[in-house]
Amino acid sequence: MKQSLVTIANLTKEKIEYLVEMASEFEKYPNRKTLEGRVVATLFFEPSTRTRLSFETAANRLGARVIGFTDPKVTSSTKGETLKDTIMMVSNYADVIVMRHYLEGAALYASEVSPVPIINAGDGANQHPTQTMLDLYSIYKTQGTLENLNIYLVGDLKYGRTVHSLLMAMRHFNPTFHFIAPKELAMPDEYKLYCKEHGIRYEEHEEFNEEVISQADILYMTRVQRERFTDLMEYERVKDVYVLKAQMLEQARPNMRILHPLPRVNEIAYDVDDDPHAYYFEQAKNGLYAREAIICDCLGITLDEVRADQTILK
Ligand code: CP
Repeated sequence: MKQSLVTIANLTKEKIEYLVEMASEFEKYPNRKTLEGRVVATLFFEPSTRTRLSFETAANRLGARVIGFTDPKVTSSTKGETLKDTIMMVSNYADVIVMRHYLEGAALYASEVSPVPIINAGDGANQHPTQTMLDLYSIYKTQGTLENLNIYLVGDLKYGRTVHSLLMAMRHFNPTFHFIAPKELAMPDEYKLYCKEHGIRYEEHEEFNEEVISQADILYMTRVQRERFTDLMEYERVKDVYVLKAQMLEQARPNMRILHPLPRVNEIAYDVDDDPHAYYFEQAKNGLYAREAIICDCLGITLDEVRADQTILK
């Protein structure tokens, strides 16, 4: 069945595990003709490197063609065309629409008016469900399980849509979260309430040091997002509050992996890149396989159909 992916909150545990399995299948053979004859549209109203390029790579590696824009200034939205009309137009041309928008709720609205599936590639500070699927795939690959993990979220937990989506997805897997943020960027109350309602354990800290890190299975670093601040003085005050350095990893658990949705600015020093705990570049690569799975799933293509497809390309 064709369906949109707007929020991770709608995915069941079985569905998440199914998509992880499908991503794993695509990692074995990323090049196939599964989407031959389809058109994938990528509408990016906000900047992106990884999300857009990995979606477009996923579409290309599966034989689809890609249309879209990376800058809304070159579209008729500058002439006053509404989001609804833009979606209606693009759905005339494409089988599925991948959309990033600066407004929270834009993906949900698009999914309500669109005749073709919408994939939310990030809506303001709200949700980034496809990032979460690649995060979950990365966690599964590195830990061998999604269950019972100690997950430390560090940095901008107020505006960071990736951490909001991740904690919602992990509700199925009995995690313990640690929220490490300055007061100005603390996890919003609505997400703490979500944790309470779903029995997710969490602790809040402002300290970020070797001892804190030593308890982590996953250390999920985030960028302080300048573009989300209305008060740039506040941004200046908090932008470099947490910087992970290689020397802070000496007591880290052997299984611990450092994730970051990227881009990074200063929050991970370059000397961490060579540390065996660093996983953020592999994580971004996993985005290709996770997004191959998501496009197929949104188009109603099943894992059995993917496996049965004999047109694997080298
Ligand atoms: N992680 C992520 O969303 O990166 P981009 O903004 O480059 O797409």
